[in-house]
Amino acid sequence: MAMSDDLKSIEAQVEEGLKRAETMEALEALRVSMLGRKGRLTALMHTMGQVPPEERRAMGQMANTVRAKVEAGITARREELANELLERRMAADAVDVTLPGRTLSPGTQHLINQIREEIEDIFCGLGYTVEDGPYVETTYYNFTALNAPEDHPSRSARDTFYVVDNAPEGKETHVQGESDILLRTQTSGVQVHTMETHEPPIYMICPGTVFRPDTADANHLPQFTQVEGLVVDEGITFGDLKGTLDYFTREIFGKDRATRYRPHFFPFTEPSCEVDVSCGVCHGKGCRFCKNTGWLEILGCGMVDPNVFRYCGIDPEKYTGFAFGIGVERVAALRYDLPDLRMLMTGDMRFLNQF
Ligand code: DAH
Repeated sequence: MAMSDDLKSIEAQVEEGLKRAETMEALEALRVSMLGRKGRLTALMHTMGQVPPEERRAMGQMANTVRAKVEAGITARREELANELLERRMAADAVDVTLPGRTLSPGTQHLINQIREEIEDIFCGLGYTVEDGPYVETTYYNFTALNAPEDHPSRSARDTFYVVDNAPEGKETHVQGESDILLRTQTSGVQVHTMETHEPPIYMICPGTVFRPDTADANHLPQFTQVEGLVVDEGITFGDLKGTLDYFTREIFGKDRATRYRPHFFPFTEPSCEVDVSCGVCHGKGCRFCKNTGWLEILGCGMVDPNVFRYCGIDPEKYTGFAFGIGVERVAALRYDLPDLRMLMTGDMRFLNQF
């Protein structure tokens, strides 16, 4: 075959190959097969010496033209493929500016903190201060100065989490024994701290977390929230206690809920009561939520026992006062008719977002 036919066949083959090369790899294979060291065109160029001298010049020109065409064809196709690739990538990563944006949910304040703040607002409106106290307490502040006798059952390791184990050496148990250091079981110890550091008149509340070794169930949580209250002034009577707490319950539950003061015992108050609010589900008729009593307990209260004043260096002949402890989870359950206190702990956004 004459060299010119070979060159024409190469040109045709490349033209066809360019059309079929759909990827960079296929195109590179085509280039190597023609222009590579062992490529068809390269091989043909090497045979130029065998061409008769009178044709050599014309053949040389033709070969160069074909070579230039092949190179240009490959370069053009490479650009085409690169553009296609880019376009495909841009289509895949495309941003549709008409789509709605992704919104970040800001979340909501936890129901317990909302109610705690509401209680703070109510008492701040009455001129009370908001105090704070330690979670890790000594038995003195949690029990002794609150007039709890040494053998009071609430001091036992069954009712109190002890931080330091006082079991004799060699007799340590897995259960923490009684000691001087504990997780506070009530916010009442802040009464003592406040009376030690403030002169009467005292009008304060103290919201905070408390801990008890209870297994969580519908009505109990091992960690919950109380708001303690303490008033110490000259001439404070039970009437002041009742007026204050009636005002509080009306503010928090609305005017249509009734309250009832039921005698009870607390070591640090005398007399003491528990305050019940009429059931919001049955309005006092009796239902499962209120265990058929028509009432639900929300707080303990009473007149400060003179012994507590003596522990704190306050003259019980000059001053009287009242104290109360509100269960914040209870208030939440009563206000929103929550059937199970554990709903407040599980972090389920479907529940929490409703408030
Ligand atoms: N500390 C009590 C408790 O945890 C609640 C309480 C009752 C607080 C009477 C008081 C009070 O201040 O006077 O059950």
